[in-house]
Amino acid sequence: MKETPQRANGTEALQTLHERAKQQAREVLLKNRRSEGTVHYTTPSKESYPYQWLWDSCFHGIALSHLDPEFGKEEMRTLLLRQCDNGLIPHIIYWKAGPLHWYDWGLAGTSSITQPPMLALAIARLFEKTKDTGFLHETIQPLINYYRYLLERRDPLGRGCVGIINPDETGEDNSPRFDTLLDFPPDVDAQTHHARRFELIEAYRASGFDERHMYDLFWIDDVSFNCILLANLEELILLAEKADRPQEVEYFRIRREKLREAMRKHMLHNGRFWSVAPFKNIRLEVATWAHFMPLFAGLYTQEEAERVVQEELRNPETFRAPYGIRTVSKKEPSYRPEGFTDDTSRRFGGDWRGPVWFASQWFIYQGLLRYGFSEDAAWVRETTLQLIEKSGMREHFNPETGKGSGARDFTWGALALDMVDQSES
Ligand code: GLC
Repeated sequence: MKETPQRANGTEALQTLHERAKQQAREVLLKNRRSEGTVHYTTPSKESYPYQWLWDSCFHGIALSHLDPEFGKEEMRTLLLRQCDNGLIPHIIYWKAGPLHWYDWGLAGTSSITQPPMLALAIARLFEKTKDTGFLHETIQPLINYYRYLLERRDPLGRGCVGIINPDETGEDNSPRFDTLLDFPPDVDAQTHHARRFELIEAYRASGFDERHMYDLFWIDDVSFNCILLANLEELILLAEKADRPQEVEYFRIRREKLREAMRKHMLHNGRFWSVAPFKNIRLEVATWAHFMPLFAGLYTQEEAERVVQEELRNPETFRAPYGIRTVSKKEPSYRPEGFTDDTSRRFGGDWRGPVWFASQWFIYQGLLRYGFSEDAAWVRETTLQLIEKSGMREHFNPETGKGSGARDFTWGALALDMVDQSES
């Protein structure tokens, strides 16, 4: 018989679910915390991901803004300690040597690529909570440098969108969005996929970290990455206003409008946004949860949003599963709900070919709220809490059964703190 989740009946049951999720969130954030000298951060999973990761730390910052904003600020400061001279913030910082995911990228102690630019939003949330102007003034210049790096070095054709040079830069390591460009069949295995991503890393390193070298090898103007950038530029502009940086406010306003227009011009096709490979002139038409990211970025018109919510988000044949929103449409040949085992995740990274992740749920939730789809948002929030209740703080979950997979004691479930807080306020 097909398993279906138990819905929380009544306010009291929901309240209990909230409290239990919050408790687990607190526990995992504390358990994975590391503090030594000036270095303070939270590992995504002590056993499987024992370093500092960029977008993970931003998720921690958002969750910690509800729990321990002082530590959240420290975690952001720690991230900024390893910013490169050109403005790039690396996606992994190896504060301590460890056996897993260890790789010599050719830089001292960090990776050489980045991850979705969630930093402005995380810093904005922490600033909102603490009103610490010292923190604002301390972080604004590195933030400006980081976003300028993306807008300038990653837009070689001057089209307005920014490009990624490796699938890992989206945080969705093995997403089928990139299969065409990597020449992979729908059932590509974890090890083969991982090896190819690291060939690209090697080629980048051999070029002396020259982005131009990647134009032919791997360059994608990705929907999710650019949506995250667009939403974060909104936050950055507000922060720059508060920090009294009028020139930068003006610059980022112009760039934000340019990005918005470019995304509509180059990515919108038949009511959906699709990632594109500009140097190969290819549109990557694989249906993933990236369809919902323009909600997060405020990029759809209300009418377009209603269509995508009706036709995809509420559609059990494509994205809506008993336990949340699938990260890949059920109709795609690459869709596989099971998710990697913890050992596979530990060796090759997580599985983005279908399982539900807490971060995708959080982004979708924010987008639905932004467009006023409060009932759908409440459903996404509740499925998130049900996953925590049923399977705990795992890395990802089978959308059909709710079974957890990948890393254990994984921190992203702490984003539930933010979802619950928003529903209570
Ligand atoms: C996995 C995820 C990636 C995350 C990393 C650390 O590789 O795919 O998004 O940053 O784990 O948690």
